[in-house]
Amino acid sequence: MIDDIEALKEEIQNYSISNEEELEAFRLTYLSRKGKITDMFSQMGKVPNEKKAEVGKAMNAVKNLAQDKFDTRKVELQRKEASDERATDDVTLPAPPLSVGSYHPLTQTMEEMKDIFMRLGFSVAYGPELEDDFHNFTALNFPPDHPARDMQDTFFIRKDEQDEDDLVLRTHTSPVQIRLMETEKPPIRAIMPGRVYRNESITAKSYCLFYQVEALYVDTDVSLAELKETLITFARLMYGQDVKYRMRPSFFPFTEPSLEMDVWWEGKGEGQWLEILGAGMVDPNVLKAGGTDPETYSGYAIGLGVDRIAMLRHGIDDIRILYENDLRFLEQFA
Ligand code: DAH
Repeated sequence: MIDDIEALKEEIQNYSISNEEELEAFRLTYLSRKGKITDMFSQMGKVPNEKKAEVGKAMNAVKNLAQDKFDTRKVELQRKEASDERATDDVTLPAPPLSVGSYHPLTQTMEEMKDIFMRLGFSVAYGPELEDDFHNFTALNFPPDHPARDMQDTFFIRKDEQDEDDLVLRTHTSPVQIRLMETEKPPIRAIMPGRVYRNESITAKSYCLFYQVEALYVDTDVSLAELKETLITFARLMYGQDVKYRMRPSFFPFTEPSLEMDVWWEGKGEGQWLEILGAGMVDPNVLKAGGTDPETYSGYAIGLGVDRIAMLRHGIDDIRILYENDLRFLEQFA
C-alpha cells in the first residue's frame, strides 16, 4: 500500500502542466470526486488497524501535494496570460485610450460660484447635513406651525425611541448661518456650500436632495444697497457683463425685507425669466438666535440653488440625471 502511495506521489510531482487544458486534466485525474486521490482514500478500509495512522498520514501528504500544485500552477498561468496580453510586437501602435475622470457638472458650477464669492472677499464654511430642529427652523425664525416642518417636506430622523427631539436632514444651508454666528464674532463674510434634502416626490423638476450655496455677511451698518451691489456683481461674473436681471420682493422667515432675483434666459425659443436666488436683510430674531446683538450689527443673507444654475447652463431638462452617475452623461463634462 505504501508503495502505491509513493508511486502516486511521484506521478503527481512529474505531471507537467503548461496550459489551462492540462491544468483541468490534472484536476480531473487527481482532485475530482472520481479522481485517483479519492480512489486512494477508499482503500483505507483494507489497511490493517496498526498501519492506519502511518498510511493515513502518507495519503494526506499526497492529497496536499496535489492541491498545492494545482493552486500554484493556476495562479502562475493566470499571471502569464495577463502579461501575454500586454506584450505586443508593434511598439508603434497607439496606446489604448485612458479613461480620465472629470468633475461632476454640479461640482464645476459650485466651484465657479465659490470662486466668484471668494473674489468678493467671502471665506468658505461648512455645516452638518444632519441638523437639529433649532438650527434648521427655530433659530431661523420659522413659526412652530410652519408648513416646512411638515412631514411632506422634511426628512425626520429619530435618534432613539424615547427621544422626542427628532433630528432632520437639513432642508437648506441656512442653518450654517446660525452655526457661524455661534462660533465667530462679526465681521462675518462667508459662503456655505452643501447638500440639502427635501421629502418631495421625485420628478424632472425636483429631487430628494440638491445643492445650495448660502452667503452671509454680518457687520456694523450692512445695508440693502450693499446686498444689491453684491447680487448684481455676482450675476455679471456668473452670466456675463450684459446679463439681464430683475429683483422682486419676496418673503422668507429669516430675512426682512426679502427679495428674489431672476435672470433672463434666452434658452430655446423665446426666452424666459428664471429665478436663481433668494436673499434679504437678516431678521433681527435670527441675529439674536445666533448670539449677535441686532442693536450693533446688521447683515444680509443669500441662498442660491446650484442645480438650477447647472441645468440652465448645460441645457439639462431633467434634474434626476444629475444624480444617476451615468457615465455617458458624465463623460460629456470632461
Ligand atoms: N433657505 C432658502 C431656501 O432653501 C433660500 C434662501 C432664501 C436663503 C433667502 C437665504 C435667503 O439666505 O436670504 O429656499
